[in-house]
Amino acid sequence: MFDIKITGTGSYLPDKILTNSDLEKMVDTSDEWITTRTGIKERHIAGKNETPSDLATEAAKKALDMAGIGAKELDLVMIATITPDNLFPATACWVQKKLGVKPGVPAFDIGAACSGYLYGLILSSIMIKTGAANKILLCASETLSKITNWNDRSSCVLFGDGAGCSVIEKSEGDSSLLSYVWGADGRLGDLLIQPAGGTKMPASFDTVKQNLHTVSMQGNEVYKHAVTKMKKAATESLKKANLKGEDVDIYVPHQANIRIIKSTIKRAGIPMDKTIVTIDKTGNMSAATIPVAIDWAVREGKLKRGNILLSTAFGGGFTWGGTVLRW
Ligand code: ACO
Repeated sequence: MFDIKITGTGSYLPDKILTNSDLEKMVDTSDEWITTRTGIKERHIAGKNETPSDLATEAAKKALDMAGIGAKELDLVMIATITPDNLFPATACWVQKKLGVKPGVPAFDIGAACSGYLYGLILSSIMIKTGAANKILLCASETLSKITNWNDRSSCVLFGDGAGCSVIEKSEGDSSLLSYVWGADGRLGDLLIQPAGGTKMPASFDTVKQNLHTVSMQGNEVYKHAVTKMKKAATESLKKANLKGEDVDIYVPHQANIRIIKSTIKRAGIPMDKTIVTIDKTGNMSAATIPVAIDWAVREGKLKRGNILLSTAFGGGFTWGGTVLRW
């Protein structure tokens, strides 16, 4: 058990909304196909000059405000992202600068795709337990629209942009991380990948022409693994906390596909009315989906102190994670 408390949450989505009917004008698709196959109705799209550090900074201000602390009090900044402002420096360093976090405070990115926020939550609990940090800003921020192939109907309908942040502090025993599981399987990395732009395949005229800087996903294969691992993460993290599906007050799953969510809750015995679904309004924002959904649940009064909050995620890598928090 790790005595941590999320004392503040915040989220920020760009103003521009792209609906399914907008997409009908861009590729050969339909609102009916997208809604039935994914549950998505609309997603937010960042402006040309809007970066993940911009989105995270706005979400962080709201989280700090709720926590009632200033940026100068933070002693660690972590950002989960697969769409960093730059390959380096870390997006967390840009957020440190934009937010006015004290120079000298450590700041780094977490590259665990859709599982990045949960990886960060687990890392935060370890940092706090060991005394390495006391007031942590954990954000997940993505502008997936900038690495989307807008001519590929099988993937361009899925993604959206946004950021969610949490302020994590030591708890006096009321709130805690009751259990967690996390894992990865690099043998399956090619099934969900941005092939070019790293040092293996640096940017060139050909890589741009062949759309190799955008998301390449074998949807069916990813789907099968997602269903298995999301269920495993849910049941194993609950078991480690000596809890069952019916003990969960709120389930916040990664929002990639409504069918994956429904399949997970059926297999893990979690009621639908305890499950938070935001995918209709946001699309898949990779790591940002969970902290955004948590923030909305807190602000709407659905997530209250003392509640048992289960979260699970699955994404590129492959990576996965599950956490059980007493909120
Ligand atoms: N509109 C209309 N038809 C479409 C579209 C579209 N947007 N996209 C695909 N189709 C067609 C296909 O061409 C295919 O047609 P065909 O039968 O004539 O060949 C048909 O629809 C079925 O295609 P499938 O790919 O089999 O559709 P599926 O039901 O598997 O849904 C989807 C695709 C939504 C991508 C699903 O596989 C999925 O959700 N996969 C997992 C995504 C995921 O979880 N990603 C992980 C996290 S993402 C991250 O880490 C960044």
